[in-house]
Amino acid sequence: AEDGYELWLRYAPAVVADPDSHGPGIAQLVAGSESPVQAATRRELLRGLQALSGVAPVGADTVTEDAALLVGTPASSSQIARLGLDLEGLGREGYRIRSAIVDGHATTVVAANDDIGVLYGAFHLLRLLQTGQPLADLDIREAPRLQVRVLNHWDDLDRYVERGYSGQSIWDWHRLPGWLDPRYTDYARANASIGINGAVLNNVNANADVLTPMYLEKVAAIAGVLRPYGMKVYLSARFSAPMQIGGLATADPVDPAVQAWWRAKADEIYSAIPDFGGFLVKANSEGQPGPQDYGRSHADGANMLADALAPHGGIVMWRAFVYSDEEPVDRARQAYNEFVPLDGRFRDNVLVQVKNGPIDFQPREPFHPLFGAMPRTPLMMEFQITKEYLGFSTHLAYTGPLYEEVLRADTHVQGPGSSVARVIDGSLHGHALTGIAGVANIGSDRNWSGSHFDQANWYAFGRLAWNPELSSRDIAVEWTRMTFSNDAAVVEPVVGMMMASREAVVDYTGALGLHHLMGRGHHYGPGPWVDGGPRADWTSVYFHRADRNGIGFDRTRRGSDAVSQYAAPVAGVFDDVAQTPEELLLWFHHVPWDHPMRSGRRLWDELVFRYDRGVDAVRDMRAAWSGLDGRIDAGRHAQVAAFLAIQQDEAQWWRDASVAYFQSISGMPLPAGAAPPP
Ligand code: GCU
Repeated sequence: AEDGYELWLRYAPAVVADPDSHGPGIAQLVAGSESPVQAATRRELLRGLQALSGVAPVGADTVTEDAALLVGTPASSSQIARLGLDLEGLGREGYRIRSAIVDGHATTVVAANDDIGVLYGAFHLLRLLQTGQPLADLDIREAPRLQVRVLNHWDDLDRYVERGYSGQSIWDWHRLPGWLDPRYTDYARANASIGINGAVLNNVNANADVLTPMYLEKVAAIAGVLRPYGMKVYLSARFSAPMQIGGLATADPVDPAVQAWWRAKADEIYSAIPDFGGFLVKANSEGQPGPQDYGRSHADGANMLADALAPHGGIVMWRAFVYSDEEPVDRARQAYNEFVPLDGRFRDNVLVQVKNGPIDFQPREPFHPLFGAMPRTPLMMEFQITKEYLGFSTHLAYTGPLYEEVLRADTHVQGPGSSVARVIDGSLHGHALTGIAGVANIGSDRNWSGSHFDQANWYAFGRLAWNPELSSRDIAVEWTRMTFSNDAAVVEPVVGMMMASREAVVDYTGALGLHHLMGRGHHYGPGPWVDGGPRADWTSVYFHRADRNGIGFDRTRRGSDAVSQYAAPVAGVFDDVAQTPEELLLWFHHVPWDHPMRSGRRLWDELVFRYDRGVDAVRDMRAAWSGLDGRIDAGRHAQVAAFLAIQQDEAQWWRDASVAYFQSISGMPLPAGAAPPP
């Protein structure tokens, strides 16, 4: 029975478009298996081709018949070398897929400069077959736009995953290094299939133990499984590790003993893991230790680690998700204020890792003002795949459109067309080191992600990491075809559900730029009334600022002036209530409850309308899904149906609680036609 374990790599025979065709039509497979990467590529092709067509292709050393598949590099295959394909500019990871005549035989060729590019090309070819595309006249040329494409696992080493909603951590530390769970290999296959080339194994709220010899042996074992799939391991480094596990009295980055400790630690790591990727660091944020504890800057801290890693080719991913201990005027401004003055002061092997928005992975935020504002520093994107604020793994919310919206946002820092995608891919400011991170939604659940649809968010992250200009709709189509069916009667409604789903969550949790309205701590249900406690910016009232007269956070020049952190044309739009997109109205403006909206409604009525619309959208998703009964295997269909029923109840809960709360403040009647209070 289907249980989701195979993810989008089901290779289901049913997905071959034409049932009368002879499967994918590959009779002969010419693929080396000398290196571990080559062997993994060959295994995957055999597995995929056999499953898709029902017959295994015949293996051969050279192409000797028609309908052959030839994969390799000019170095691994003389037939590829003789084709003389132009592989310039593809780097190690890029590839070409060509229909060609090889020694007189019709052949599909997957060629690259390096084995890993061949593996990526092989997965691309399998994707074509899985989505029912013909293998004729192919001429594909692909190379990743971003270099470092990593998952961040928020794993606490005790199998707990912070903000993880899919079971325990997949890393079974207790049994490592002796037991290498086969899941690690399937994890690597899935990641390689979408081009993810690294993983930070442990939480940003790091436990320094991971840097001790006992754990490094376990990390090395995981690295060994991931390596043939082109994935490197990275670790979150706790800044105070020299004190916690090194016996030093300080972690001050300018202290020579501290520097020596990190250098020795890096040497130790690289002697066990020669291709170790580097460190991810959360410093001076939410109670984590950092260089500011010693009066030093983020650059001082990052550079000290960068110097330790540089001789081995490692990098530092230094997070910009920071906010200070003091009561903030506007937390949205803090990262910019701390980091922009440091532009140009980071070593070449440091990336500053910036969340997509200035607060924290809300269902909608404007793009982070740091993008474009640090031209002399490579910035990497941090998206959340795990849905901390979008209904965990229970609610259906496809995050592809969220990622796309942010990547396409125009910073205007070098005129129109200065998209966030072009900031992070290095093309805008000429950076060679580039990257993107996704906070993983992967756990020990049979279906990996806690729900079948959340697999799509992992998939979409990987595809956009490879090419940040892809369309989230195209990605949804691909994923649906591979995951469920090529039948248009399935693809259309499923993609329709996916494309509407994120906006539904925005609507029923708080639209029009409202944010941070969730219950404290758990972040799952509504809590727009949350007030008091240890920090003002851990409340909801701090963010929505609703009172008798109106609602919204004034971030204009007359308010917190967060708008001025954006380039002038963008700042001008956000500063002007008439030009600000309504989706972000209450992010930037405090407006009266009767503020006129483009729909002709007043703000209060529009807000209620959106809450109702969100609930209705979930009802529509349920109806669309129930119409697929019989077209999707019963097990997966039933679970999605049950989750959608939960989502509908909870969307109603969000709506009712939020409308009742805001009504208690606005004192306005419910608009005609709105559902009455429960
Ligand atoms: C959010 C999240 C935390 C996490 C933090 C971070 O605040 O709730 O669990 O540690 O982001 O990204 O560092």
